[in-house]
Amino acid sequence: MATSLLSSALSIHKEGSLYWQGKSNVSLKDTSFLGVSLSDHRKSDFSKPILKTKISVGAIKSQAVATTPAINRAAPVVKKTLRKGCVVVTGASSGLGLASAKALADTGKWHVIMACRDFLKAERAAKSAGIPKENYTIMHLDLSSLDSVRQFVDNFRRSGRALDVLVCNAAVYLPTAREPTFTADGFELSVGTNHLGHFLLSRLLLEDLKQSDYPSKRLIIVGSITGNTNTLAGTVPPKANLGDMRGLQGGLNGLNSSPMIDGGNFDGAKAYKDSKVCNMLTMQEFHRRYHEDTEITFASLYPGCIATTGLFREHIPLFRLLFPPFQKYVTKGFVSEEESGKRLAQVVSDPSLTKSGVYWSWNKDAASFENQLSQEASDVEKARKVWEVSEKLVGLA
Ligand SMILES: NC(=O)c1ccc[n+]([C@@H]2O[C@H](COP(=O)([O-])OP(=O)(O)OC[C@H]3O[C@@H](n4cnc5c(N)ncnc54)[C@H](OP(=O)(O)O)[C@@H]3O)[C@@H](O)[C@H]2O)c1
Repeated sequence: MATSLLSSALSIHKEGSLYWQGKSNVSLKDTSFLGVSLSDHRKSDFSKPILKTKISVGAIKSQAVATTPAINRAAPVVKKTLRKGCVVVTGASSGLGLASAKALADTGKWHVIMACRDFLKAERAAKSAGIPKENYTIMHLDLSSLDSVRQFVDNFRRSGRALDVLVCNAAVYLPTAREPTFTADGFELSVGTNHLGHFLLSRLLLEDLKQSDYPSKRLIIVGSITGNTNTLAGTVPPKANLGDMRGLQGGLNGLNSSPMIDGGNFDGAKAYKDSKVCNMLTMQEFHRRYHEDTEITFASLYPGCIATTGLFREHIPLFRLLFPPFQKYVTKGFVSEEESGKRLAQVVSDPSLTKSGVYWSWNKDAASFENQLSQEASDVEKARKVWEVSEKLVGLA
């Protein structure tokens, strides 16, 4: 009987859902491993993947009841150490991506794949941030080329690593551009990079995430307050607005279609905000389509105003000079790169942030809370349309 229970436990493990095996009357305090105890899991949704197995739970229960005394004698407590998680962070060569890569790698519990377009810049950034060498790998990814995205996925798979968390973080912001520029595939650059590149990446890597046996696997797409017109920042013109998406349907190529999603004239600041709406809609559409079956947590976040990052590199010098003190002393919305990195790392790994379909924000006391998205950024019909048009544009449909 003991053997049969042990083999049941092992078969649960093979299903990839269980990290702990042991006697049935084990104390919760006894189960801590690498700082994550079963009691922690029980407090959070971590209990879900551990206790919810894909094999017949009824059969296990009846065996457990019938064989409890024998198990106590024969089966020693086997604690399986939680392996190091593997997280891919796009755009980890600066700003939020770099800070979160450091926060995660510094814990020693994560190996960070820094998915970056400039290998040398990323290597220098990792070194100067002091990220432990053994906890990161840089892999080339240029989100403005669909070929590069596919190549990255191939390279990642060849590395033999499991994928436990994907963070879609990279972005470009071109507020002063007078004319649109385009990706290798002919899409307007902001939406092409921030949304379509990430859309293809996350759709392809979803298969890898599904196969992960990590207790909490997650797909995170960084959003922004600026795409949410229900906030003060989101009402600063030009406001995000996807309209009827005629530009997106036309391929955003500026030739036989507008480079803007709504079909209007090019506006770099609006294109960025529109791309962020697409990011937040995509996260929710992933949640609706896949959360229940895969138990993957899909989440987005607004990390706060990190006014010092490279995101503002294309802005006029006066803006770059005044924006950080303005955010620090006037709006008081300023967040340091280090603090923002901790926030994103929280969404990656905190056992209490496993709820799916959520857009996280932080209050004045730096505590996370589920924020409300604007009407457009939570529009179910628009999310479905963005998904369907995007999969055609990136060659998935
Ligand atoms: N800063 C803020 O206040 C703020 C607020 C809300 C949300 N966010 C969001 O936070 C995220 C990170 O922004 P950030 O402020 O940290 O800006 P950042 O310092 O400029 O970082 C952006 C990253 O994206 C990378 N990137 C740009 N184009 C790429 C491409 N084609 N392929 C691969 N990587 C590419 C950049 O690489 P290079 O280093 O090679 O340029 C860089 O690593 C973005 O999603 C942004 O929307 C920022």
